[in-house]
Amino acid sequence: MKSNKMEDALNAQINAEMYSAYLYLSMAAYFESVDLNGCAHWMKAQAQEEMIHAMKIYDYVNECGGRVMLRAIEAPASSWDSPLAVFEQAYSHEQYVTGLINNLMNLAIEEGDHATQIFLQWFVSEQVEEEASASGVVKRLRLAGESSGGLFMVDRELGQRPLPIPMPGGTAVSSV
Ligand code: FEO
Repeated sequence: MKSNKMEDALNAQINAEMYSAYLYLSMAAYFESVDLNGCAHWMKAQAQEEMIHAMKIYDYVNECGGRVMLRAIEAPASSWDSPLAVFEQAYSHEQYVTGLINNLMNLAIEEGDHATQIFLQWFVSEQVEEEASASGVVKRLRLAGESSGGLFMVDRELGQRPLPIPMPGGTAVSSV
């Protein structure tokens, strides 16, 4: 396996990805509470993606003969001032996660751990997409401004996002 430091850092990243899933699921729950079903659907898809990220690292640690150690997941926020505030937080959270991935990559380079560097490359590219996707919604919501028609259009568009993991019985979006 990896050094203890690398294994510990990968376990910490599993926790960060699980927290991200929890945060986005909390954002989905907020959107359900204000009847923005498309936004809720987008956040549920995002939460699923985060679970997939966590599982990729989980499998990698095991594949390398390491030991996955799960930690407590911090409670996420549960209410926001506006749909824009939710997506602004999602965007800044993704920027934070990019920093975590970069730190992991720096550690892998420092330790001469080539396999982990190659493994992390997928996450480096994924973070570019993750940031672009959240920041794209922030821009659309800013353009929509105070207009309820604009918000309705954005909500409808976000409801079209494919789910990474199909859910039995479909999702809230099917009723949009
Ligand atoms: Fe797993 Fe959204 O970063």
